[in-house]
Amino acid sequence: MTRFLLPLLLLGFTSFTGVNSFSPVIGPQGVNFWNLDKQEARERVASSRRDLPLEISARAFEEFEPQWFEQPLDHFDESNPHTFKQRYWVSKRHYKARQGAPVFVLDGGETSGANRLPFLDTGIVDILARATEGLGVILEHRYYGESIAVENLTTDALRWLNNEQAAADSANFMAKVKFEGIEEDLTAPSTPWIYYGGSYAGARSAHMKILYPDLVYGAIASSAVTHAAVENWQYMEIIRKAADPKCSHHLENSIKIIDSILLGHSKFFKSHLKGLFGLANLTHDDDFASTISSPLGSWQSKNWDPEESSVRFDQFCEALNAPVHGHGISAKATDLPFGDPARMVEVADGLTLDLSILNYGAYIKNNTASRCRSTLDDCFGTYDDSKYQQTGLDEDWRLWMFQVCTQWGYFTTTPPDPKQPRILSRLITLPHESKICQQAYLPGEFFQVPPLPNVTAVNMLGDFDIAADRLMFVDGEVDPWRPDTPHSDDAKPRDDTILRPFKLIPGAVHHWDENGLADVTQEPVVIQDIHAEEVAIIEQWLADWKPPTKKD
Ligand SMILES: *[C@@H]1O[C@H](CO)[C@@H](O)[C@H](O)[C@H]1NC(C)=O
Ligand SMILES: *[C@@H]1O[C@H](CO)[C@@H](O)[C@H](O)[C@H]1NC(C)=O
Ligand SMILES: *[C@@H]1O[C@H](CO)[C@@H](O)[C@H](O)[C@H]1NC(C)=O
Ligand SMILES: *[C@@H]1O[C@H](CO)[C@@H](O)[C@H](O)[C@H]1NC(C)=O
Repeated sequence: MTRFLLPLLLLGFTSFTGVNSFSPVIGPQGVNFWNLDKQEARERVASSRRDLPLEISARAFEEFEPQWFEQPLDHFDESNPHTFKQRYWVSKRHYKARQGAPVFVLDGGETSGANRLPFLDTGIVDILARATEGLGVILEHRYYGESIAVENLTTDALRWLNNEQAAADSANFMAKVKFEGIEEDLTAPSTPWIYYGGSYAGARSAHMKILYPDLVYGAIASSAVTHAAVENWQYMEIIRKAADPKCSHHLENSIKIIDSILLGHSKFFKSHLKGLFGLANLTHDDDFASTISSPLGSWQSKNWDPEESSVRFDQFCEALNAPVHGHGISAKATDLPFGDPARMVEVADGLTLDLSILNYGAYIKNNTASRCRSTLDDCFGTYDDSKYQQTGLDEDWRLWMFQVCTQWGYFTTTPPDPKQPRILSRLITLPHESKICQQAYLPGEFFQVPPLPNVTAVNMLGDFDIAADRLMFVDGEVDPWRPDTPHSDDAKPRDDTILRPFKLIPGAVHHWDENGLADVTQEPVVIQDIHAEEVAIIEQWLADWKPPTKKD
């Protein structure tokens, strides 16, 4: 068994007093959304959805039969005859034929589109389609799920997995699709299409509005990572600052001590430290540092819906400061600050550690190291190139990693300033995080992965400043990906208008507007609010829509 840790998919820092807080602004059409009665707007969304039959959720996957759309493998080389079938799903629940009835397309992004079906059933697509009597569509991304054009995932076979080809897929789909069982021509631009995506797909949504403005009438870009960066040390800064302060305090201090041992000269201390984590036999210290960081990635999986939310981060925080039995440590020690003599445990001759490091070790031992059924190097090591070189279609981790290695980057590294507190060890450097690009993607005949990702093609499309009329940004205040969105603290402040909405959901993590509940009254108020705002804005945009005049 080979297991390894992949760089996190969507990775960030901020001070929460950031510039981009809600500011009531008069829209260009003179409408001030903030003057709408929020309570009334919420109730409107709720009452339109309360009658949704419950059994619809249960048979969601049956209701939405997969459909297939033929795409060229290479949109930019007419001599390449290869095509593939792109999978999509349609919800006609709310559709009423009339001129100007909208189509909402949700970009599946870097996963199987089937994972996005809940958004067609009770999430953002259903909410918007219902409010506007439109059609809902989930469009799977090339190479993911079953929209596969190639026989294996070698470097050469992956060369058509890039932003340009994937954007051209969506454009071709919007311009040409014929929906089964629907008489009307719903292609763009004679029908208003609204594009939606979250995270990577959020960036794609923004890119689509920039690249294909004639086809994309409007777009919502949620947690859109429009700033591509080779290194993404800001990711962990968001978490460090947003986590429970006691937990962050213990984590920062634990990492400081762990780093001093790892970077120190005592092999004896090092091996005792690694032993506490069940990782004594993991050969390389940077692999150890990386393995013990694994609970941190679960912050981004927190969701307002308890059914969807990961509890792992909170459990980890709780475990860090749990009382330690034995060692003469009293239960009250947990109330004392890190390093207080009453919290110190002698681990080995001359090695005395705070109880949170012991707890950290026990947590990793219990939840990570103990799951390894092979050697630790096999499970958690990154120095054996051969473990990354299987290229079968089932090695689907190769897909997003290829995109990371070629166009997106986002290697989660430790903060560069040595004086800065950190929750990620100083051993987690760019060379350690990015070496997989060369290990996994051996040079092909037709394509080679660059030494480091070339993020220019993404950032050329606007980076932090990306903007267009009828392009909405929705971000989460404590989303570790916020530093890569237009709500980054490094981005210029902007106004929030009806034509260029710019929303930050307080206390939210990653694309929290994407999911919804069948009974929306059970959603937290901030989520009801953002959904209501999205509905009201889309309604405004659609009210301005005019069929294009025929050009000949
Ligand atoms: C991958 O697929 C291509 C095209 O089908 C084929 O020519 C090549 O031999 C395959 N390579 C491997 C390693 O499976
Ligand atoms: C570590 O490796 C040694 C020798 O290779 C082995 O005897 C020992 O059981 C291993 N320890 C653990 C905890 O896996
Ligand atoms: C680890 O597992 C042991 C035994 O199951 C348990 O007593 C201990 O509380 C666990 N510790 C952590 C930090 O998960
Ligand atoms: C990076 O990508 C940009 C845009 O695609 C391109 O113009 C540039 O030549 C690339 N840089 C390198 C070093 O390949």
